[in-house]
Parts: sequence; C-alpha cells; structure tokens
Amino acid sequence: MITRKKIKELLTQRKAILLAHNYQPPEIQDIADLCGDSLELSIKASQTDAEVIVFCGVHFMAETASILSPDKTVLLPRPDAGCPMADMVTPELLKEKLSVLRPMPVVTYVNSPAAVKALSTVCCTSANAVQVVNSLEAKEVLMIPDRNLAKYTASKTDKKVHLWNGYCPIHDNLSPAEVKRARKKHPAALFMAHPECRPEVLALADVVLSTSGMIRYAQSSNHSEFIIGTEIGILHAMKKAAPTKRFHPVSTKMKCPDMKKITLEDVAQSLELMQGEVKVPEEIARLARKAVQGMIGTYNPV
Ligand code: 13P
Ligand code: SF4
Repeated sequence: MITRKKIKELLTQRKAILLAHNYQPPEIQDIADLCGDSLELSIKASQTDAEVIVFCGVHFMAETASILSPDKTVLLPRPDAGCPMADMVTPELLKEKLSVLRPMPVVTYVNSPAAVKALSTVCCTSANAVQVVNSLEAKEVLMIPDRNLAKYTASKTDKKVHLWNGYCPIHDNLSPAEVKRARKKHPAALFMAHPECRPEVLALADVVLSTSGMIRYAQSSNHSEFIIGTEIGILHAMKKAAPTKRFHPVSTKMKCPDMKKITLEDVAQSLELMQGEVKVPEEIARLARKAVQGMIGTYNPV
C-alpha cells in the first residue's frame, strides 16, 4: 500500500512536480501539486523550476507538457492512458484533407497528437476556441479533431468553420433525453455543459464552459446547485472548490476509462524507476510549440 508520504518523498528526491487533470480520480487530485485543465497545467509546469513533471492525465497532455518544457523529463505513469478523440486524427489523414481543401488555417484542439499540432497553424482549448478562431485574419478555418467543439465555435463566429469528424465518445454520447431527465430531477439546478457535447445538448445548457471554467463559475455564481455535463471526475474538484454548493452529474455514464487508469502505485513506480517518459522529438516539438504558443497569447482562463 503506497502512502502519500512515500510519494511526497519521491517527488522531493526527483525534484518533481505532480500534475493532475480535473478528471483524475480523487486520490490523485488530492496528492497533486496542481490540478486543472490540460493547458493550464502545462503552462504552470513550464514556469516552475521542477526537473521532472509527473502528468496524471492522458498521453496528449504529457506531450503538450514536453513540447512546452523540452528541458524537463515528463512522466506519464500509465503510458497506455490515451484519448480516443486525439487518435481520430493523424498527420497522414490531415495532409490528405489539406490536399483537397482551399488553403486555410488549421486550428487544432489540444486533444490531438503532437505530430498533428506540428502541422497546424494554431492550437486551441475548449476555453479559448472562439477567441483563437476570431484572432485569425482568414475568413475560413479547418478545426480538428472535435466536430462538436467546431460546431460550437461556428455558432459563435462569423467565420466559416470546416469540420473534422472526430469526437469524444464520453461527451458525444450524452443525449438531450438524459439532460431533460436530470433537469426534472433537480429543477433548481443550473446545467453546465462542456463544448465537446453535441449541439442538441449544448442547446439545453445554461452555460458552456471548459472544465476549469466550470469550477470557477460554480465558485463565483450566485447559484447553489448545478448539473454537470462533463466527465464525472470533475465533481471531486468542484466539491473541494465550492464546498457549500451542490453538484449532480448529468449522467454517471460520463466516465472516461483512460482518465481513470493511473493509481497511486503507478505514480510511485514511475517516480521510483523514472518510467513512462513522454518525449516529443525536437523536430516535431519545435513546430508544435509554435502552434501551442500561438494560442497562449489569446489564452484567457474563463
Ligand atoms: P478541458 O479540461 O481542457 O476542458 O478538457 C476536457 C477534456 O476532455 C480533456 O480530455
Ligand atoms: Fe479524450 Fe474524452 Fe477522455 Fe477527454 S474525456 S481524454 S476527450 S476520451
């Protein structure tokens, strides 16, 4: 049985920082130095003087940390923790698509492989997608890989947004009927949805926000009860951030298996053996960094 004390000792010994995405299991969030959305975590990590970043999240997040912190060692305690949506786009498929489209900027959601970011004009997150698209001069953009985030962005901009047919299986599976059921059960609650949900679900939402945006909104809102339309791991973070408020998952089926893979034992083992390193080759990282940094100027944590 691994103790928190043992992990803390290993972190000090390795001059390491432990990061946890908002969807991670409670025991991982509770021991992390920083919790947040993927971009926030990578930015904050690159600003510390830690030599090692232990990323409790999924593979593309560890890659983003490696892109922004090329001189640090990035460890993903479970190398098999991936993201099905990120796997829906490859450099080959993107090149094929670009060969048949008019020339236009490619706006790439951070939930994507580093090699795809390297071919992109600029990256975006769920928090800044609209802002990033509006910051471009072009009148048309290709947004990859999430069709739902692209449709949501298209509804908020005058630009023409070309879609890629990718999606998050967890968010895309949420139906309007499930939202209506939850609303009926909790009539006083405000419904928050993540832009990875389908347009017909977002049409029922009171607010559409990224994961960290939802946490901040719950803290500062006058409302005291919320239905949460994203991965259920976030409820732990929300209850900690706003302990006097009430949170209900819109559906307990919204559980990402990849986000639940890492255990405390995996964290200890990766630190002990320096195992699970994710290193983006410099020729890819250099190009991907330009695309990631391109959005950091427009990054606004709301
Ligand atoms: P954010 O935390 O950036 O909103 O991302 C949601 C997500 O699905 C990450 O996998
Ligand atoms: Fe990928 Fe969806 Fe899991 Fe996020 S919740 S890691 S987008 S599969």
